[in-house]
Amino acid sequence: MSEAMEPGKARTDEIDFRELDRIIEDDFNNDKENLIMILQAIQRHFNYLPRPALEYLAVKIGIPASQIYGVATFYSTFSLQARGRHIISVCTGTACHVRGGERVHERVEELLSISDNQTTADKRFTLESVRCIGCCSLGPVVKINEDTHGRISSDEIQKILDQYV
Ligand code: FES
Repeated sequence: MSEAMEPGKARTDEIDFRELDRIIEDDFNNDKENLIMILQAIQRHFNYLPRPALEYLAVKIGIPASQIYGVATFYSTFSLQARGRHIISVCTGTACHVRGGERVHERVEELLSISDNQTTADKRFTLESVRCIGCCSLGPVVKINEDTHGRISSDEIQKILDQYV
């Protein structure tokens, strides 16, 4: 079992600046017009937007860091909190709720010893509850990264989590 990790700032020495250069320079030509796509690429790489990476980005493309934070906080798809390698999204929308979504959510919390919006200490998982992911007939639904697991019971959760190392 894992323990919960307090959300915190990434240390500068945890940031892979070579990879950042690759994204900002090679993929997007240091062009501030590509800001949203650059942020998406950074989030894909780190699974969230580390603050030192955003400050580095501001210098590289020549715009104020405050402008980058403005964009990063405006869109809900971006996260400024450290997240795990695997994002577990448990649907708590109505259709999933009536089919036991809440029990599934509780079981994930219990197995990982974390609450909603927390990350395990080993950075393996982040748990988030979401409102309807568009496949209500499969409820209760849990999405892990891009994989959708439908019609699951709380007893099956451990087996599913074991597939993600
Ligand atoms: S309510 Fe869960 S997928 Fe729609």
